[in-house]
Amino acid sequence: VEMEAIEKLSKISNVQELESFRIEFLGKKGKITGLMKNLKNLPPEERPAYGKRVNELREKIEKLFEEKRQQIQRILEQEKMEKMRIDVTVPGARRKLGHSHPVLKVMEEIERIFVSMGFDVVEGPEIETTWHNFDALNTPEWHPARDEHDSFYITDDLLLRTHTSPVQIRTMLERKPPIAIISPGKVYRRDYDATHLPMFHQVEGLHVDRDLSVAHLKFTLEEFARRMFGEGAKVRLRPSFFPFTEPSFEVDVYLSGYGWLEILGAGMVDPNVFLNVGYDPEEWTGYAFGMGVERIAMLKYGITDIREFVRNDVRFLSSY
Ligand code: PHE
Repeated sequence: VEMEAIEKLSKISNVQELESFRIEFLGKKGKITGLMKNLKNLPPEERPAYGKRVNELREKIEKLFEEKRQQIQRILEQEKMEKMRIDVTVPGARRKLGHSHPVLKVMEEIERIFVSMGFDVVEGPEIETTWHNFDALNTPEWHPARDEHDSFYITDDLLLRTHTSPVQIRTMLERKPPIAIISPGKVYRRDYDATHLPMFHQVEGLHVDRDLSVAHLKFTLEEFARRMFGEGAKVRLRPSFFPFTEPSFEVDVYLSGYGWLEILGAGMVDPNVFLNVGYDPEEWTGYAFGMGVERIAMLKYGITDIREFVRNDVRFLSSY
């Protein structure tokens, strides 16, 4: 029995086998108990010696059993530790981050360029009064820009601003010249096709001081174009009309591979606008400009459909 027990025990490798072993040898109906039962068949004088041997055997097997039990326990614990172990050299799974929108990136770039030239960044409300959006900007009732079809009206006197130019008015009412500001933000018009969105972004610029001329305007825009599009970028002013500037210009940028492209409107602040904010037009001069950010982003990145900006296709967004 002893040899058999040692042999079996040596082959045991898990808890189930160990338990079967215990039942087989040490259980109530086990082999040791079986040996003890033989006692009554022996002559009385042999019984004490026999009993002693069986008891010694039991103790021995119990001891071996206990050793085996502890050994298996140690192996199990080790396996458990192995499973919990962290390999710090395994490359991590990268968490997907959001991506900043190309329009906002371009807008920030525009801001950086003008801030480095000394312009402050100011913001105005997207819900405007018709006075700030039109009247104060010398845009009378009859002007087509006031037509119901171009603007989102909230009431007779309130609308979603159609351009960032009302921030010129708000700034001049708040500050005394000299002033040099840009104003980035959202604007709204009733338009939607491959080159128009009902909500888009503009950056307005306004510089008011004594003795400013078209030369200052042109230099500022040339400097901006060079920094935005590269040293080869040239700027051209074409005569145009805006109610709040005189003279007014459409401004084109020359990009090799593209030719002349219209990127913004600009002009010298109209004396009537100065009068509307209480500035003396004899003393103060100024230039202003307004650019469409989506348009500049399209030129910079070669995007042909403005609606890409609002499709929110992450493959599009993450390529800029
Ligand atoms: N506000 C004009 C527009 O939205 C652009 C502009 C701004 C023109 C400033 C002249 C001066 O088209």
